[in-house]
Amino acid sequence: MTHCQCGHAHEHGHEQEESREPLLRDLFARYRGVQGALIPLLQEAQNIYGYLPAEVMRRIAGELRVPFSKVYGVATFYAQFHLKPRGRNIIRVCLGTACHVRGGARVFGAIQERLDVADGETTADLRYTLETVACLGACGLAPCMMVNDDTHGRLTPDRAAALLADYE
Ligand code: FES
Repeated sequence: MTHCQCGHAHEHGHEQEESREPLLRDLFARYRGVQGALIPLLQEAQNIYGYLPAEVMRRIAGELRVPFSKVYGVATFYAQFHLKPRGRNIIRVCLGTACHVRGGARVFGAIQERLDVADGETTADLRYTLETVACLGACGLAPCMMVNDDTHGRLTPDRAAALLADYE
């Protein structure tokens, strides 16, 4: 269970659910009867919740009158959909060739050790999600990573791990 700073995780979680419910209902209303609505519904539901909770996918299946397995199959097929909560900060460490030969794996290892999560996982406090990518298009800055929209290049393992503190 994740607790917020004031320790009222249950109440806040409940409030958050309540504030999202009207958005979800509005979403269903907008797409009712629309052909090919599954992917846009998944995208917009993910924007509302930050990921796709199983219950939301169940409700999408109900709305579209399709089996849950179909909704789940599409959500797991596309990399853009996330079935688990994501961190407030998304770290993408490049392990492409240029970064790899300049120590990308050591940068990744240092971050992994600092956060104690594996590739694709999120820290328990939902502060960070750690991912790897094959190229960030900034090979001249290798080894590099992105945190949210910021590109950080010419990293050392220590510098990479230390700069995470800037991201709340
Ligand atoms: S290989 Fe890392 S940015 Fe291209």
